[in-house]
Amino acid sequence: MMIVGSCNDCHTAGFAPSDGKVPEKDWLLGSGPLGYRGPWGTTYAPNLRVTAGGMTEDQWVKFSKELKSRPPMPWFNLNQWAESDLRALYQYIKHLGPVGEPAQAYLPPDKTPKPPYVQWPAAPK
Ligand code: HEC
Repeated sequence: MMIVGSCNDCHTAGFAPSDGKVPEKDWLLGSGPLGYRGPWGTTYAPNLRVTAGGMTEDQWVKFSKELKSRPPMPWFNLNQWAESDLRALYQYIKHLGPVGEPAQAYLPPDKTPKPPYVQWPAAPK
């Protein structure tokens, strides 16, 4: 499914470094060990099968339209998706199979994450 291509970059462990060669059965299970560290702290791309697994399709649509999250999630793009696309995405995630484990928990800025993590440069002063 084309529309999840860019989501895999972050929400699928190892996707970008392997040139996208991760089997579909492992898609959207979360960023795994990889954290995204910046002024906001360290975020981990959640396992979207867990997220969608705990919601009805209607709840998913509302959640996606109202989502505001920390970087680097492009939540403002997801907010703009057509309802039909969000419903298709929900069905797609559901069909991927076993939900797996939740991603690692967010760490506040004063906590140093275990590697690997991507360090964002501080904003220019
Ligand atoms: C550049 C990396 C990146 C990309 C690309 C990305 N995400 Fe995310 N996403 C994240 C991170 C990191 C979080 C967690 C942010 C936080 O902890 O506040 C997140 C959070 C989410 C959440 C909230 C999940 C929850 O359980 O709270 C949803 C839903 C989501 N992303 C969907 C998507 C979809 C759909 C796409 C593709 C259209 C996508 N994301 C693309 C990094 C990304």
